[in-house]
Amino acid sequence: MLTEKSKQKIYFRLSNQNLACKADVIREKYGICLIPEDVRAGAGPEDKFLPLLRITKNQLIIEHQSGNLFFHPSMALLRLINIRRGLGDRFLQALNPAEGDYFLDATMGLASDSLIAALAVGDKGKILAVESSPFIHLLVREGIDSFSRLKPPRLKSREKDVAWDELIAVSSRITTVCADHLAVLKEMPDASVDIIYFDPMFRNTLNSSDSIRPLKELSASESLETETVLEACRVARKRVVLKERNNSTEFKRLGFKIMEGGKYSSISYGIIEVAGTGGRII
Ligand SMILES: C[S@@+](CC[C@H](N)C(=O)[O-])C[C@H]1O[C@@H](n2cnc3c(N)ncnc32)[C@H](O)[C@@H]1O
Repeated sequence: MLTEKSKQKIYFRLSNQNLACKADVIREKYGICLIPEDVRAGAGPEDKFLPLLRITKNQLIIEHQSGNLFFHPSMALLRLINIRRGLGDRFLQALNPAEGDYFLDATMGLASDSLIAALAVGDKGKILAVESSPFIHLLVREGIDSFSRLKPPRLKSREKDVAWDELIAVSSRITTVCADHLAVLKEMPDASVDIIYFDPMFRNTLNSSDSIRPLKELSASESLETETVLEACRVARKRVVLKERNNSTEFKRLGFKIMEGGKYSSISYGIIEVAGTGGRII
């Protein structure tokens, strides 16, 4: 896990020298301290094991001891295809979004859920996605901005092509912010967002899969605070949703009612309805 001090520092490597200006933009736009990779050999113990940011023409990739991390919305693509085939999506069932809704994703991660929410709220809706890890925020923000230059997944089919283009189109509905979600919520007026969603990192993921491990190492993994949920209930107009492991005691601790269904799934969604209560939990 990265220490507080090292969260803004990362080594970097350019895939070609013409990309030096891209490194300057990252420094300036995101306030991240990029250190040339070749000084790692002489670095002290605190900096020796910092991750490496590989800057290529079309993509940013973070190499970490736990694996590589990059923005690639393949999971969102599969979900979008299933939704278009008429299969249900439990995340959307939990959100119950309407066209034009304003959705706040308080734990953006790699933005799969934000992309699916962006699809559901339509072109009049909007998404604010909050992520506290500067590196994850950088990957996703830059990934969305250069989405059309990403290589679509292999196994091409007409259905996949159409879904890929749709995903690119809906991604423009997502505004991102690199911040702690409690700080963001505290700044927002009462009943100013329709739905607020939390998908905190599960804390006991000893056997994380290869793809989850780098995300877990680079992300914030504190448990959700009661104060944050209360703020979310003040800011939401319709509902606050929490994703957690099945049988998680977090639902009870934080006052969420577990949504029915998903008997064979390892995850559950909890809901707090705030509609018509002026932010009081019912
Ligand atoms: C499990 S991931 C979310 C995955 C996401 N739903 C998706 O579809 O890719 C949780 C993310 O929330 C972020 N996070 C945790 N605590 C946070 C906080 N207090 N404020 C903002 N982001 C936070 C973590 O850094 C991590 O990237």
